Amino acid sequence: MKIWVLTLFPEMFQGPLSTSILKRAKEKGLFDYQLVNFRDFAKDRHRTVDDTPYGGGAGMVLKPEPVFAAVDSIMAQANSCPYRILTTPQGEPFNQRLAKELAAKEELLFICGHYEGYDERIRSLADREISIGDYVLTGGELATMVMIDAIVRLIPGALGDEQSAQNDSFSEGLLDYPQYTKPAVFRGLAVPEILLSGHHARIAAWRRRQALQRTAERRPDLLAKLDLTAEEREMLQQMGYPAPTCEE
Ligand code: ADE
Repeated sequence: MKIWVLTLFPEMFQGPLSTSILKRAKEKGLFDYQLVNFRDFAKDRHRTVDDTPYGGGAGMVLKPEPVFAAVDSIMAQANSCPYRILTTPQGEPFNQRLAKELAAKEELLFICGHYEGYDERIRSLADREISIGDYVLTGGELATMVMIDAIVRLIPGALGDEQSAQNDSFSEGLLDYPQYTKPAVFRGLAVPEILLSGHHARIAAWRRRQALQRTAERRPDLLAKLDLTAEEREMLQQMGYPAPTCEE
């Protein structure tokens, strides 16, 4: 996968992209990235990228020309046609399903907004507008880093153990079950007996039950979206969490 990032602050990306899993994924050739500063595409002497809004009002707005010129340049260099994402609090919410969808793309281009906003015509460059949550960041850089992290770890081979991405919270629409490691008792807190039993089928059933319970307690909204089996509905009922249905 190739990831292009259009940003006014390429230096912000250095830490996250050159640490841990993302660093290893790049070294293994699973993905590559290129940071492009669209200030380099500003035509005037001062390399201006923003201007005051038509109609008045506070703050500055990103000008269309440098962003369009930078996107044209990337499209000319790209191998395929990159899937273009604009970061904005007005976009569709980012989630694990979207991360999976984007992880299957050959080339991605993130356009990071900044300042008070951008000229509306910049929106026409994007295939998708995405928000990472209902809060306002100073720019799209952190949102892009969050998305790159969530996407790259899903590329086959990025995580050491293939199972671990499949077992993630949200991968089946459920939160993760509790995990333990040694020692079996720590400060009086014991690991659940079942996990020490070596009985794989019972452990799997226990984990499923824990994941269901945790999701019911913390994120009932997620449960409502799931296709639960009759057995799982019964299980939730017994735990005191009647499973909601989409019709309700
Ligand atoms: N830019 C500013 N806030 C943002 C958010 N919540 N998500 C994506 N991009 C943003």
